Amino acid sequence: MSDTGDRPPNEKSQIWGGRFSVAPDEIMTAINASIGVDQRLWREDIAGSLAHAGMLAAQGIISAEDAAAIEIGLAQIAGEIESGTFVFTEALEDIHMNIEARLKELIGEAAGRLHTARSRNDQVATDFRLWLRTRLDETVSAMSELQGVLALKTRDHAGTIMPGYTHLQTAQPVTFGHHCLAYVEMLERDIGRFLDARERLNECPLGAAALAGTSFPIDRMRTATELDFNRPMANSLDAVSSRDFALEALSALTISATHLSRLAEEMVLWASPHFGFITFSDRFATGSSIMPQKKNPDAAELCRAKVGGLAGAFQALVLVMKGLPLAYSKDMQEDKARTFIAFDDFSLVLAAMTGMVDDMDVNEAAMKAAATHGASTATDLADWLVRDLGLAFRDAHHVTGAIVAEAEARRCHLADLPLEVLQHFHDGITDQVYGVLTVEASVASRTSYGGTSPDLVARQATQWLNRLSERFS
Ligand code: ARG
Repeated sequence: MSDTGDRPPNEKSQIWGGRFSVAPDEIMTAINASIGVDQRLWREDIAGSLAHAGMLAAQGIISAEDAAAIEIGLAQIAGEIESGTFVFTEALEDIHMNIEARLKELIGEAAGRLHTARSRNDQVATDFRLWLRTRLDETVSAMSELQGVLALKTRDHAGTIMPGYTHLQTAQPVTFGHHCLAYVEMLERDIGRFLDARERLNECPLGAAALAGTSFPIDRMRTATELDFNRPMANSLDAVSSRDFALEALSALTISATHLSRLAEEMVLWASPHFGFITFSDRFATGSSIMPQKKNPDAAELCRAKVGGLAGAFQALVLVMKGLPLAYSKDMQEDKARTFIAFDDFSLVLAAMTGMVDDMDVNEAAMKAAATHGASTATDLADWLVRDLGLAFRDAHHVTGAIVAEAEARRCHLADLPLEVLQHFHDGITDQVYGVLTVEASVASRTSYGGTSPDLVARQATQWLNRLSERFS
C-alpha cells in the first residue's frame, strides 16, 4: 500500500515519545499509521507549513532566520518527494510527522519551532480542505469538457430523430440532440453542487491548534489569505472536528455519478444490436476472449458501476463521523482513503465518458426507424382530434387508442392507415391528419419552452457552446 521505508518501528516516537517509557507495539504502529494514504497530501502540507512559518515570523513568534531555514528545508523536502527520493516511514505515522522529522534532519533545531501554535488537528483539516478544493476545481473543468462534447453532438444532431421512451417503451419521437442536452443540464446542476461545496469548504482551520486556539499572538487572517481561503474558521472546536466539507463533496460526487451511470446505461443499450443507435469506436470498446465477433462496451459498463464505490465512500464517511464527540478523534483519520479513491474514480469516469461520447458514431437511420415504430405519433393524432375536430382530450385519447389497435392488427404505421379506415373510428377525420402523423412533423411541433423541436434544440446547442467556450477562456 505505502511506499514506506524499513526503519524499525519499535523506537519511541521522536515527536510525541516524551512521556512514554517503551516503544509502541508493531500492531499499534500498523493500525495507527496513515502515511500510506496521506502522503498524497504532501503539497498541501508543505503549503500550509510555509504559510504558518511566515506568519509566525511576521508576528515575532519565531525569528526570521528560523523561518528562512524552515522555508529552505521545506523546499528541499518538496524536491525530494517530487523526485521519489524521500523515504516515508510508517513509524512516523503520517505525512505531517514524516515531513517534520525530515525537516529536523535537514535544518536541526529550527524545525522544532514550526509546530508552535499549531497541532496536527488543524494541520490535517487544512491540508484536506486544500486538497479537496483543487480536486473540486479539476472536477468542474472535466465536467465542463463532457458538457462540451455533448453540446457538439447536440449541434450535429439537433434534427436527428430517435424514439423517446417512458418505461423504456416507445413514447414520442424526440431528437437525439435534445436527449444529449438533458445530460448537459444535469451536469450543470452537478457543477453547481460542486461549486457550492467549494465555497463552503473554503474557510481555513489553521490556527485552531489542537482544539481551543492558542495563547500565541497568531494572525489567522494572514494564513487564511495566504492559502487563498475566504476567511479563518470562526470556532476552533468546529475547525478541527468538522468533515462535512468532505461529506458534501462526496454526496455531490455520488449524485453526479448517478447521472453519468444513466448515460452509461443508455449507451450500453444503444450500442446493443437490438437498438443499433450508436457504435462505440474501437478506442472505447473491448473484445471477447472466446467470441470473436464481440465488441463490448466495457468502459460504459464500468462507468455505470463506479457509482457503487462512490456512494459507498459517502456512506462510509457518514458512519465514521456519526456520533463522534467534539473535538478531534482518531476515527477521523479514516476520512481520506475512500475520498481519494472516489475522486480518482470519478475523474476516470468523466474522462471515459467524454472519450466515448466524442468518439461514438450515431446511426441516424436506425434511430429514425425505431422512432416510427410503436405508434409513436399517437399523441399527435389525439392532439389533432382535439385541435381540429374539437374533441375533449379524453375522447380523443379513446378514439386514438382504437386506431392504434387497428394499426397493430394490420401491422402497419399509423400514417399508413387509409383515410376510410380512420373515418371508421371518427367520421370527422380528413386527410389533413396525415400532416401530423410523421415523426418529423411530431418533433417539429414540439415548440413549447424546453421542447424537442429541432429549431429549439439547435438554438440551445449554440447557447451552450458559447457559454462553455466562455467558461474555458
Ligand atoms: N494522521 C492524522 C489524521 O489524518 C492527523 C491528525 C492526528 N492528530 C492527532 N491528535 N493524533 O487524522
